[in-house]
Amino acid sequence: MSYSDRKGIILAGGTGSRLFPITKGISKQLIPVYDKPMIFYPLSTLMLAGIKDILIITTKEDLKIFKSCLGNGDNFGVKISYEIQPKPEGIAQAFIIGEKFIGNSPVALILGDNIFYGEGISSLLKGANKKKNSSIFAYQVSDPERYGVVEFSKDGKAIGIQEKPKDPKSKFAITGIYFYDNSVVKKAKEISSSPRGELEISDINDIYLKEGNLSVEVFERGIAWLDTGTVDSLHEASSFIRTIEHRQGLKICCPEEIAWRNGWISNLKLEKLALNYLKSGYGSYLLSLLED
Ligand code: G1P
Repeated sequence: MSYSDRKGIILAGGTGSRLFPITKGISKQLIPVYDKPMIFYPLSTLMLAGIKDILIITTKEDLKIFKSCLGNGDNFGVKISYEIQPKPEGIAQAFIIGEKFIGNSPVALILGDNIFYGEGISSLLKGANKKKNSSIFAYQVSDPERYGVVEFSKDGKAIGIQEKPKDPKSKFAITGIYFYDNSVVKKAKEISSSPRGELEISDINDIYLKEGNLSVEVFERGIAWLDTGTVDSLHEASSFIRTIEHRQGLKICCPEEIAWRNGWISNLKLEKLALNYLKSGYGSYLLSLLED
């Protein structure tokens, strides 16, 4: 397998009910995080990992608007296709919905509301992409009970994963980016729904762990994994992005920039894209890349 063969899935379904009324009429993953739609962040993360063939899974209602935002991926030098998740029945359902798209390839999944930023993230992701083994990433949080939580042995080996445990065995939450081999499709079909009616990604991770085929890497404190699940955390994520972008004059998770830096779109294409966005400043940023 070559790492350029890995497919990528962005799961952008759900009702966004924790953000009502903001998300009454628009998909959560299309609302802004400072200066760009939320989905630009996970899209950028997959692109930073080197993934070019991407499936977006969304609801029937939101499909059209995602297509008008992202199209077929041509503007980002990638291929984007779409599938519908009829009901939000768990993250692991993405592999069943995406079975045809995945084919015989390995696959990475990212949740449409997960934002990652920080030193070294791109090489960590590229490393996971190239590995034959499956990998997930853990991150220390103050409220692990809200997430999938990894349990470590005394010598620091991951030995178990529990979804939203009342009594977490560590402070390390499993983040919403997952790299799997092709057996994930079969595994997703084999697990049963949890008491909350979902096919849990933590059950998949636990199976991989028991097989001895899962590497659990830790994102250290220099990396930010931002939450966008509530009105406050969404606001905080926007301010974080704004603060760094203003200070450096660089944009975080700008997919057009990543595509251009990866050599996936030409100077001419970048210039053309920039001209569509001149009124917002996003366009002048893209043009400034060509001048530097
Ligand atoms: C989901 C997963 C959980 C993971 C989290 C990351 O939680 O079930 O294991 O830690 O995403 O964002 P949910 O969004 O279903 O609460």
